[in-house]
Order: sequence, then structure tokens, then C-alpha cells
Amino acid sequence: MRLRIRNFRKIADLEIEPGDASLVTIAGRNGQGKSTVIDSMALALLGGKAAKLTKRPIRDGEERASVEVDIGDGERVELAVTRKWNRKGTSLQVLDEDGVEVKKPQKILNKIVGPVSFDPVAFMALSGRKQVAALLEVVDLPFDPEEVEVCRVGLFGERTETKRGVKDLEARLGAMPRPERGLPAQIVSLNELLVELEEARAKHETSTTATLQASRAREHMNRCRADVRKAKDTVAAAIAAEEFAGKLFEIASKEHDDAFQAAEVASQDLPDVEAARERLSGVERTNTAIRQAEDYKAVAESLKRGRRKAEGLTDKLNQLEATKAKGLREAKMPITGLSFDFEGLVYKGVPFVDCAQSEQLTVCMGLAVARQPELCLLHVRNGALLDSEARALFEEVASRFGVTAWLEFVDESGAVGIVIEDGWAVSQDGEPLDADGVVRVGAGS
Ligand SMILES: Nc1ncnc2c1ncn2[C@@H]1O[C@H](COP(=O)(O)OP(=O)(O)O)[C@@H](O)[C@H]1O
Ligand SMILES: [Mg+2]
Repeated sequence: MRLRIRNFRKIADLEIEPGDASLVTIAGRNGQGKSTVIDSMALALLGGKAAKLTKRPIRDGEERASVEVDIGDGERVELAVTRKWNRKGTSLQVLDEDGVEVKKPQKILNKIVGPVSFDPVAFMALSGRKQVAALLEVVDLPFDPEEVEVCRVGLFGERTETKRGVKDLEARLGAMPRPERGLPAQIVSLNELLVELEEARAKHETSTTATLQASRAREHMNRCRADVRKAKDTVAAAIAAEEFAGKLFEIASKEHDDAFQAAEVASQDLPDVEAARERLSGVERTNTAIRQAEDYKAVAESLKRGRRKAEGLTDKLNQLEATKAKGLREAKMPITGLSFDFEGLVYKGVPFVDCAQSEQLTVCMGLAVARQPELCLLHVRNGALLDSEARALFEEVASRFGVTAWLEFVDESGAVGIVIEDGWAVSQDGEPLDADGVVRVGAGS
């Protein structure tokens, strides 16, 4: 590649050949023309609209300005781009590798130059969500991240709600008495027991009456027997009475036998009144316990359902995560190990903000190369933010990706980079320039 700027804005005449350099540092004090160098490439390549954005493209006191950018590797020039400005306007000329002027030059440039130059340092300062948006501009995903996120938030909310319900049910169940063992399955009928008790009481009454009648009959019989004795004593006088009394005795005796038999029958299989009474008093307690057991069972059922639902939601969330993970695996990421969540970028499983600076730079470079695979223009406007260690790292990562990064660096020492003074290059890394004034940075330049 080669860059030549003539009378463009602050720059008088400057030619730079980066060669295989990964980093071209444009250094100097403020207002000397550093940004002009960096902007010139974008303004030359990005089309007439961008070129017109500059209000004073021609250097004060001059008639015309030009920026030439030769794109190619090493000796071979694939495209020679020249943008010119005069008082009337701006024009673009692009020559192919055989030096033949191409038609519709901007169309060709648009194919190789990304939409804008990329500033990795500015990118690092963006919010996580903006960084993800930048990534998604260059990655085709088999799913819509926003849709997945909406779905995930919905499921997550529903699961939180369900889990809260499960907790409530657990607390309710914990506060309830555990059901006694061996309780009847159904509520005991009080009516049936009352009828039973009534019947038992009636049978006992019948029995008591019969017993009373029997003892009365015994008394009667005894009285009759006395009468017989009396009658015997007065046999002579009362044979008829004897016969009569004898007959009465017979009848009474039969009545006595019947009554005793009846009393015996009545006293057979007498129900246990005490037990029935006890059951009656126990029944209310039992029924309370059964009702409690039913409540317990109902709450336990709800708890089971709640837990099952929460598990189902967890499964769905996991499925969603799996779909996302699969999509991310299938998507062609600009750098292996790069992914994202909805907070920001994630590199090798670590959130971007927590990554080491070298890793952050790797991600930035990867993105920049993905955005501009043909001609990667990296402009670090605020190079003052980078210390010497960071600049070395920057150079290393740029070299790993095989790109050239252009770095603007505010510096008064004059010892670092191509030093610009009042629109002219005056030295390179503290050394005077070659006699022809061309600034050669890397090997092969
Ligand atoms: N057409 C022009 N002719 C001469 N000087 C210009 C022109 N356009 C801008 N400048 C001057 O260039 C300077 C800014 O250049 P710039 O590249 O931004 O410097 P730096 O990045 O080194 O701070 C300002 O002083 C501005 O007035
Ligand atoms: Mg500047």
C-alpha cells in the first residue's frame, strides 16, 4: 500500500509506504495535521458524499488537492485510487493493475472498503450492547437474538413466579399437621352412629322391661303358691278353691317360663353401648383429622404440580440456551472463541470487559477485519490513551491479523512514529527521513 497526500487540508506533501508494517504511528503536537493524514484515506475511498463533508479540503493558499491510495500487496498495485479536489468540486479516478481506468470506480471501492473506518480504541469504550450490535452487523445468525431474548425473559419471569408459588406451598405444607396413620378414608357418618345408639338403647329398654316383668311374675307365682298352701290347710273347705288356685298356678307358671325365656332372649347379643358412645365422641376428632389430611393432600398435590411446572420451565430455558449455543456454534464468528450474551461480548467464556487488554484488542481487530476484509483501515484517533506497552500489544495483534493499523498519537518528544509538523513529515522514530522524503515504515516499502 501507498498513501500520498498533496495540499489536502493541513498536509502539504506527504508520502507514506507502510510496507509490511502492522502499525503506522502518526505523531506530533496538536494541530499539526495528524488527523488529516488518517482522515484522508477514508475521505478518498468512501465516496463523493464523504469527500464533500470536508469544508476546506484544499490547503490554504493552494489551488488543488489530491489523495492517492495504492491498494495492493508489496510491489503489485491492484487498484490505484486518486481523489482530487479543486475549487469546483471533487473527482475520483481508479486504475486497475494494468493501469487501465475502471468504470464506476466508487462501486469497486465500496466492495473493498467497509462502510467506515474502524477505531478499536473507541470500540473498546462502547457499551456492551453496542459492541454486540457491531458484532451482529458482520455475523449471520440462524436465530433472531432479540426474539430469543424476549422469549428467555418471558420464560424466566414465568419460572420465577412459579418458584415463588412453590415456596408458598412448601411453607403452607410445613405449617400443617402431618396426617395420622390409619385414618378412615371417608368422613364417618354421625347419623348412622346415632341411629345405632338409639337402637341399642331401645333394645336395652326392652330387656330391662322384660326382666322387671319376670321378677313381678315370680312374686305373683309365690303369692299363688302361698294361697295353695293356705287352701291345702283348708282343703276340706276349699277343694274348689284349691282347683281354682291350681289352675291359676299353672297359668302363672307358664307366664313365668315365657317371661324368663323372653328375658333370656332379650339379654342375648346386647350391643356395647359404651364402645358406641366412645366412638361417637371420637368421631368429631377423627373427622377433623380426616379434613386436615385432605387439605394436606390438596396442598401437597399443588406443590407437586408447581415443582413439575418449574422443572418444565427450566427445561425450556435450557432448550433456549441450547438453541442459542448451537446457533452461536454454527454462526461464523470473526474470531474463534467470540460469542455474546445480552449484556455484551464474551471472549473465551469471559465477558469482554473482564478480558485482558490483549484479548480485547484481539476481538477488536477480528471485528475490524471482518468488517473490512479487503482493505482494513483502523484509525485510532485518540492514541494518547495507549501507553507504549499498549501500542506494542496493538502492533502485535494487528500483525497477527495481517492488517495495518493507523494510529494518531499526541507526542512532543519527537521520538515516536512519523512526526508531523505544520503539515509536513519531519522525522520517523527520531531519525531524519530518506532524501526523497518518502516515509517507509515496514520492510518491502
Ligand atoms: N484547508 C486547510 N488549510 C490549512 N489548514 C487547515 C485546513 N483545514 C484545516 N486546517 C488546520 O489543520 C489543523 C488541524 O489539523 P489536524 O489534522 O486535525 O491536526 P492534529 O490531528 O495533529 O491535531 C487546524 O489547525 C486547522 O485549522
Ligand atoms: Mg487530531
